[in-house]
Amino acid sequence: MEEALADSAEMSEVITRPPLVTDSMSPEPLKIKKGAITFNDVTFRYEDSNQDEQLFKELSLKIPHGQKVGLVGPSGGGKTTLTKLLLRFMDIQSGTILIDQQNIAAITQDDLRSSVAYVPQEPLLFHRSIKENIAYGDLTATQEEIIQAATLAHAHEFIEKLPQGYDTLVGERGVKLSGGEKQRVAIARAMLKKAPVLVLDEATSALDSKSEKAIVSALDNLMKGRTTIVIAHRLSTIRKLDRILVLKDGKISEDGSHEDLLAQKGMYSELWNHQSGEFLTED
Ligand SMILES: Nc1ncnc2c1ncn2[C@@H]1O[C@H](COP(=O)(O)OP(=O)(O)OP(=O)(O)O)[C@@H](O)[C@H]1O
Ligand SMILES: [Mg+2]
Repeated sequence: MEEALADSAEMSEVITRPPLVTDSMSPEPLKIKKGAITFNDVTFRYEDSNQDEQLFKELSLKIPHGQKVGLVGPSGGGKTTLTKLLLRFMDIQSGTILIDQQNIAAITQDDLRSSVAYVPQEPLLFHRSIKENIAYGDLTATQEEIIQAATLAHAHEFIEKLPQGYDTLVGERGVKLSGGEKQRVAIARAMLKKAPVLVLDEATSALDSKSEKAIVSALDNLMKGRTTIVIAHRLSTIRKLDRILVLKDGKISEDGSHEDLLAQKGMYSELWNHQSGEFLTED
């Protein structure tokens, strides 16, 4: 009883909190098609942050459409925040964020989020069948399309082994899936969603190298034709991408290909040398 009361008190606090982000009164029609991303002099600080310092001070960044970018850096450097700003979970204090020259604050949040597929670090699965969880990416998807997406996401293998296959209930009270399995279901969901921009926050939890391979290969399929930002903790996931950014203390400290950054002998090359000793034995 007490637990339920405490939970519901917390929940009603969440429900009654005014929304942080509101749609413009006269939103522009959606023009995003290709997914080029621009940050212009973006300044941002968390309102409830106990630090006076802004996290991002006039941060500028241009990602051409179709480019695949890996985002790395120390914990607390601002990687997740950067992607949340792109999805407009919070508003920035100054500057602009554009996708295909359209200010993301000028369109509705629904339109924005239909243009960006987001695979979070800890994907949320609903207490529904696994099929319905995948179809959430596109409610019009047929059974065939769902299975195709799951196959490309390397989720089909483990789904077939579940007691009721695609009809198995997952989520809170359903079958427990591992972090890597949940992320592959979320990748299948993103696969169905026809969005020009893809953002993936890689799970920090140590995946065994077999699951990691499955995720990397699922990602390859998912990134095709999409502008992509992948936050990676394991550099092996992103070494082959077009470009790598190191985000440290809210600033981009290194920017270039894997080879460029190794040659710069900065933080990336240090991280790489450290990690390659640990689990990159296969190549
Ligand atoms: N909701 C929040 N309110 C206040 N401060 C926050 C909030 N979320 C993050 N921060 C702070 O902002 C900074 C950047 O956090 P962020 O989550 O973007 O880091 P990160 O680079 O993703 O780290 P990690 O590699 O650990 O995931 C940190 O100092 C963090 O404490
Ligand atoms: Mg993070």
